[in-house]
Amino acid sequence: MSDLENHFGDDASISEEDNQNISAFLIKNSAETSTKEFSFKILNSIGNKDIIAITHTDFWKKEHEEIPKKVFGHADVKSKANCKACHSDVEKGLIEDDKIKNIRAFM
Ligand code: HEC
Repeated sequence: MSDLENHFGDDASISEEDNQNISAFLIKNSAETSTKEFSFKILNSIGNKDIIAITHTDFWKKEHEEIPKKVFGHADVKSKANCKACHSDVEKGLIEDDKIKNIRAFM
């Protein structure tokens, strides 16, 4: 958030007010302050590593290791970061087993 002018090769800069609001949201909802099981597991798997994406954590990789690569390239998924394509309740901060879509639809 402190260098949005250089955001993975894009200029993603926003107003100072938006930056403060989003930063406050991120800190308030970070894994460090969550009591949810998966936040704890993801945070634990980061350890001292310099990781900038959930999908780079050992925990995420292990949970998704059996999913064929082509599934993440499917037109309805597009990317590993598109959690919602497979976890329909993720926007509520939840990842429940019975809400994981059948990935056969993406094969
Ligand atoms: C292509 C579909 C797909 C995408 C995209 C995906 N997941 Fe998953 N995820 C799964 C499947 C399928 C499982 C269950 C794997 C198993 O149990 O073998 C799973 C398991 C999980 C689990 C463990 C759930 C449990 O009950 O053990 C977590 C946490 C999780 N995913 C988080 C995420 C997050 C966060 C993202 C986005 C950054 C994401 N996933 C993206 C398909 C996906």
